[in-house]
Amino acid sequence: MYDKLVKKEATLAVIGLGYVGLPIALEFARKIKVIGFDINQKRVDMMRSNVDPSNELTASDFEGCDISFTADLEDLKAANFYIVAVPTPIDASNEPDIRPLVGASTTVGKVLKKGDYVVYESTVYPGCTEEDCIPVLEQMSGLKWKEDFNVGYSPERINPGDKVHTLATIVKVSSGDTPESAEEIAKTYELVVDAGVHRAASIKVAEAAKIIENTQRDVNIALINELSIIFNRMDINTYEVLEAAGTKWNFLKFFPGLVGGHCIGVDPYYLTHKAQKLGYHAKIINSGRYVNDSMGFYVGKQTVKKILAKGKSIIDSRILVMGATFKEDVSDIRNSRVIDVVKEIESFSCKVEIVDPHADKEEYAHEYGHELVDAPTGKYDAVIVAVNHAEYVAMSEADFKNLMTDKGILVDLKGIFRDKIKDLDYWSL
Ligand SMILES: NC(=O)c1ccc[n+]([C@@H]2O[C@H](COP(=O)([O-])OP(=O)(O)OC[C@H]3O[C@@H](n4cnc5c(N)ncnc54)[C@H](O)[C@@H]3O)[C@@H](O)[C@H]2O)c1
Repeated sequence: MYDKLVKKEATLAVIGLGYVGLPIALEFARKIKVIGFDINQKRVDMMRSNVDPSNELTASDFEGCDISFTADLEDLKAANFYIVAVPTPIDASNEPDIRPLVGASTTVGKVLKKGDYVVYESTVYPGCTEEDCIPVLEQMSGLKWKEDFNVGYSPERINPGDKVHTLATIVKVSSGDTPESAEEIAKTYELVVDAGVHRAASIKVAEAAKIIENTQRDVNIALINELSIIFNRMDINTYEVLEAAGTKWNFLKFFPGLVGGHCIGVDPYYLTHKAQKLGYHAKIINSGRYVNDSMGFYVGKQTVKKILAKGKSIIDSRILVMGATFKEDVSDIRNSRVIDVVKEIESFSCKVEIVDPHADKEEYAHEYGHELVDAPTGKYDAVIVAVNHAEYVAMSEADFKNLMTDKGILVDLKGIFRDKIKDLDYWSL
């Protein structure tokens, strides 16, 4: 397969062209022939005009690429090596929603031919590829797994907004269903990953490796969040504690905060779901999720308490929340936990306004039922810097003073203004 791809006698297709799929598709398209497939025609049209709908890549990233974008199943028939990078979200009950994955497997199954390869990149629980995806491929194609086609799993590790850790510079984990297919898949990824490819022992090992990377982060952040709640009661600044403890060589550097986005706050639920199915209730992972999912409400309550302590009427208070996206310097608002802060404060009947230089107003209103304001309006009793966008990091104490009423409070979720604030009332996690 590898030789055929390199000689352009075979074609690679990427199914699902989002944050993960599009960069992979373009990177491969510099070396081999690629079809980019997505069910969203609007996104396909944008990519045909060299526009990345996820706002991560620029028009120049599309240049020099041998790629055709399509939403038409007929066009997919020309492919031989399929990479699936569709979303793996959770539902309202925090259970895995693998419908996009089953949908993409159905699509690929319809066009699968003898000798083809299918590699999944979506983050899943261990066993998902073999137990949930391959049966769909077999059923739709009428072909037999390992006799007629091969399957692999290679998780994605990119980090939205990160220009240093990119597809080419992060070691990639890959796996296959036989030693031969594993090698073909690894060699194919080596075409685009300069940092190298780690050959995992099996598909399940590769699936598990990805899911624990984010689970480990989630649990570690939860510990620091819990410490921050404890230290708040002791009137100790958590960032000062972390700075001191961080001077030890083996102290791990994690910080308190909201855990949002579609990876760290989501992936652990895939693992706990699978564990539960196997009769094990994951206590540490679930506790971590509980702590992290509660942080927005905690911050909201602390802000209200601080306003009340100033002798102000809570119903007449105005609060400005700066930052709505799930992390700094990106436009992605999906699964942002900033809304938890807003809802908690609003439950006390305070008026809350949200600004964000990156988030799309319409998308935000659609997703969260809350309007973003273009710019601050008047003075506020508290300003909460929820996301450390570069625009906010550059702000001075005078800038915040201009936004506040008398006895205003600055709530700094990321602890970035700690050394800059001399007069204002200041609180951070
Ligand atoms: N975003 C990240 O930084 C990141 C990092 C590592 C891993 N992941 C994982 O990668 C996977 C993809 O995430 P993403 O952030 O790229 O998602 P995304 O929402 O940005 O993009 C998904 C794309 O898939 C398309 N799609 C949905 N269902 C489809 C189907 N049945 N057939 C074809 N196209 C379909 C959508 O239209 C969209 O364009 C997820 O499993 C995620 O957990 C994401």
